[in-house]
Amino acid sequence: MTSCRFFCFCPQEVKNKKYRRESELVSEYTLKRAREYECENSAKAKSQERPEFHVTGQVGWINDPNGFSVYKGEYHLFFQYHPYSTFWGPMHWGHVKTRDFVKWERLPVALAPDEEYDNKGCFSGSAIELDDGRQLLIYTGVSEAFHDGKDVDIQQQCAAIGDGINYEKIDKNPIIPIELIPGDGSKIDFRDPKIWKENGKYYLVAGNRASDGSGDILLYESSNFEDWKYDQTIDSCENRYGRMWECPDFFRLDGKEVLLVSPQDMEADGYEFHAGNGTVVLIGHAGEEKRFVRESAGAIDYGLDFYAPQTLLTPDGRRVMIAWMQNWDTCNQNHEDRNIYGQMTFPRELSIVDGRLCQYPVSELISYRSKAKTHTIDPGCYHATFDDVSGRVFDMELDIKAPGRDTKKEIKISLAKSEKYETTLTVDLSNKTMTFDRACSGGRRDIVSKRTCKIDVNDNEVALRIIMDHHGIEVFANHGMQAMSSMIYTPIESKSILFETSGNISAEIRFYDIEII
Ligand code: FRU
Repeated sequence: MTSCRFFCFCPQEVKNKKYRRESELVSEYTLKRAREYECENSAKAKSQERPEFHVTGQVGWINDPNGFSVYKGEYHLFFQYHPYSTFWGPMHWGHVKTRDFVKWERLPVALAPDEEYDNKGCFSGSAIELDDGRQLLIYTGVSEAFHDGKDVDIQQQCAAIGDGINYEKIDKNPIIPIELIPGDGSKIDFRDPKIWKENGKYYLVAGNRASDGSGDILLYESSNFEDWKYDQTIDSCENRYGRMWECPDFFRLDGKEVLLVSPQDMEADGYEFHAGNGTVVLIGHAGEEKRFVRESAGAIDYGLDFYAPQTLLTPDGRRVMIAWMQNWDTCNQNHEDRNIYGQMTFPRELSIVDGRLCQYPVSELISYRSKAKTHTIDPGCYHATFDDVSGRVFDMELDIKAPGRDTKKEIKISLAKSEKYETTLTVDLSNKTMTFDRACSGGRRDIVSKRTCKIDVNDNEVALRIIMDHHGIEVFANHGMQAMSSMIYTPIESKSILFETSGNISAEIRFYDIEII
């Protein structure tokens, strides 16, 4: 990132400036201190601050998922973490693990920015299980350097090795120093390594800013994970999809090669891409030589809060994605009186269907469903509530049908509703769109609150799934062909659900509580 984004907007600024000026203060950010701070403060988050089955930090601020991987048969997730406040600050790596993506166990903070090469932050990265049973973390170390006549924060790739709880940064760091950046790529924007192993070799992709200011995805390879060499640039943004590309992930899925990137500074493009920080999936092909040829580009998620997704491959062969359920353009609101800020999406299984990236909540959630209720909305009903369909932690499916030729065929679902608040999801079957609107959800900043995406309406039917967990709402249209993830700021007591229809619409509703026991 250009450091500016992080050093301008928050009250943390004062502390960060101090941190920048007085390098002796760097040792303030030790792992010991962060772990003690977690122990003393993690119980302070009020129960409604935490979702039931989505990952949050122990205390303080979180952003990108990092190191999402399998280790000794369990799924580990690390994340960008500033324990000391609910705003972004010197980056640590927080840590949780799970066996089923639903129940997560909190583990102590894994990395602190305590070395010369990372004393401005341990930025995003990834993890892998080594053949000898140890766990390798690869991350971006940010440090100050005198470069081109001025003091700048440079970014280099570093490694730490551990046992699933404690990690030691290796002596050879930085393992991919700025000298290994090809051509005139930026030394300031070179980050977010995603590692994998294939045919006995380690590979990683990382984002870099090219001389035209836009993003390149660089591929490196190594036979031993310590000595790396630059291999090739697998794709370049050329200022078409935003500018700098952050947090790349590159993998094979259903016979295609998939590159996920999180571009900064996007321009809106119809309903496909919104302005600001977006996410883009590039689908293409690549042979043995990994020469990626892009065939299509699209948004990954169409909601208001989704960024920096990362994937893992489960032992049973599923490609599962998790993302930060926030966005840099919208995350600066309703921080007051909070002890934690930021959460992840629920993990989603990926597939390619009709050339598009399809994503659907991992099936493990189904076994936490309870108290099934089914209801029907008949044509001509127009306005329906059900006594047993309400709440803030649920999984709801709707099969919507709209036969006939009405010019307006629409269903609007108001969630987390009370006299004062509501968040609406409107499926317009005539225009084939879905619109999420949280303008009246309780946010205190005048930021973008509404987003629309295109959906397929086949045979006048749309299937919807809505997962809600306190303040997070994830919507999946047509079994994951489109997804929309957004946070709301509504008090937890506001929990009615209202269905309104226009035109000849009917819907079958299946509503389940989610109980984490
Ligand atoms: C993406 C990002 C990454 C960086 C991290 C810093 O959200 O900007 O590029 O490593 O956040 O917290």
